[in-house]
Amino acid sequence: MRFSVTTSPIDKPKAGLRAVGLFQKRKLGLHAAGLDEALQGRVSDVVKAGELDGEAGTTLLIPAPAKGAAATVLVGLGPKKDFAAKAVRKACKALAGLVVERPANTIAIAVEDLLPLQENVGWLVQTLVFAIGDAGYRYTEYKGKEDVKPVRLKHVVLCVTEEQAAEAERACAEAEAILAGANHTRDLGNAPPNVIHPEALAEAARELAGQHKKLKATVLDEKELKKLGANAILAVGQGSERPPRLIALEYSGAGKDEAPIVLVGKGITFDTGGISLKPGEAMDEMKYDMCGAATVLGVMTAVCELKLPLNVIGVVTSAENMPDGRACRPGDIITTLSGQTVEILNTDAEGRLVLCDALTWVERFKPKAVIDIATLTGACIIALGHQASAVLGNDDELVQSLKAAGSATYDRAWELPLWDEYQEQLKSNFADMANIGGRPAGTITAACFLSRFAEKYRWAHLDIAGIAWKSGKDKGATGRPVPLLVRYLLDQVGR
Ligand code: BES
Ligand code: MN
Ligand code: ZN
Repeated sequence: MRFSVTTSPIDKPKAGLRAVGLFQKRKLGLHAAGLDEALQGRVSDVVKAGELDGEAGTTLLIPAPAKGAAATVLVGLGPKKDFAAKAVRKACKALAGLVVERPANTIAIAVEDLLPLQENVGWLVQTLVFAIGDAGYRYTEYKGKEDVKPVRLKHVVLCVTEEQAAEAERACAEAEAILAGANHTRDLGNAPPNVIHPEALAEAARELAGQHKKLKATVLDEKELKKLGANAILAVGQGSERPPRLIALEYSGAGKDEAPIVLVGKGITFDTGGISLKPGEAMDEMKYDMCGAATVLGVMTAVCELKLPLNVIGVVTSAENMPDGRACRPGDIITTLSGQTVEILNTDAEGRLVLCDALTWVERFKPKAVIDIATLTGACIIALGHQASAVLGNDDELVQSLKAAGSATYDRAWELPLWDEYQEQLKSNFADMANIGGRPAGTITAACFLSRFAEKYRWAHLDIAGIAWKSGKDKGATGRPVPLLVRYLLDQVGR
């Protein structure tokens, strides 16, 4: 899918579809009215006939008047007097759902019709690109052609005014890069766990580095991890035939002496729970336990495409959590890379184990900030559902910046407290700490565990268990929180 911006009017681009707005009660948007005139009242006739009232989230397709001419899509926007972001999001989603599978390969959209007073055109362009990109995503790798509804739409032309053009262009390029990154994340998250194992993630990182001059991949295998003393990562992976990997993708977009922003992704390519085995129901979905890692790779894709003048390091800490004769057990005590000892009371709390060694390892980069991204706790889904990532950290400014980036992209995050009192739940009778903190505040105690390995830098943690994946009939990876993170990075360079 390709997106472009033009200042020519809605009826000029060569397109099979033209989208214009309709407010409730049957009030044509500016460009809808213009198009109506050009079509000799065809649009207003259909509206007057009561075919569409203009409720937000409804759409109507008016077929082309003649062969080779364009069809018109009326997009319901709700009442004009309280037209705002919420109605636009609904409208964009409905529009996207209607048009991606139509026979037309190009659509022109009257951006002005869909822009509420309180928002800027960049926001709208991003909302449109994300909605159409989402509707146009398919994961078809293992499906026969007949079984997949093809996306016929190839090109989206955004018609804007002269004054809007520069901002629209900038927003369009950014949104496209974010979309490409998110799609990469989705592809990795949707791929089966027999294919995506730790070495496959390493290969994906090397492949990405091969495509971009400013990107360098480093992979530590199990022997190197052993030499290093990353025993927590090794403990999680020791029950699997597929050995763990610690992967770094270093993007150099700024001077050598500029401290990097480091992203660390949880890459459990399958989480059975290990000896603390999970129940069987929907266990297939635990292939998405590498979506933190997939997010890191998606963000790095976007960073390269946007040529950000920053140093960014994407780290993936990857293992497969399997039950086995060699698997770690409840009661095992390990010495982590930091030197702190951990009593593994539950082998299903493995994410924090692969992360803790990675958090220690990244100290070597002298980071400006470290953000880890992990499908870490089921408790996060109980706390926030499927709307928001949980964000916790040791630096308020960093946490607030991430929340702001989430709001700006509608890829939202919500803060949970990281108060000292919660740390007590991690007490172990036999080691420096236990790897679980009991049932209360499971997302917070998981973050408390991580905080003990992140004391040397500004750090924030995103628990994405609720948002990285959609369950149900349309189950699959969402590509979140790539938009949040790329926006955060753009904010760092004032774009
Ligand atoms: N990967 C899971 C968390 C998870 C659960 C993500 C459901 C998405 C959906 C994680 O490794 C895990 O198993 N966490 C345990 C921690 C518990 C043993 C303290 C959990 O949340 O139950
Ligand atoms: Mn687990
Ligand atoms: Zn897990």
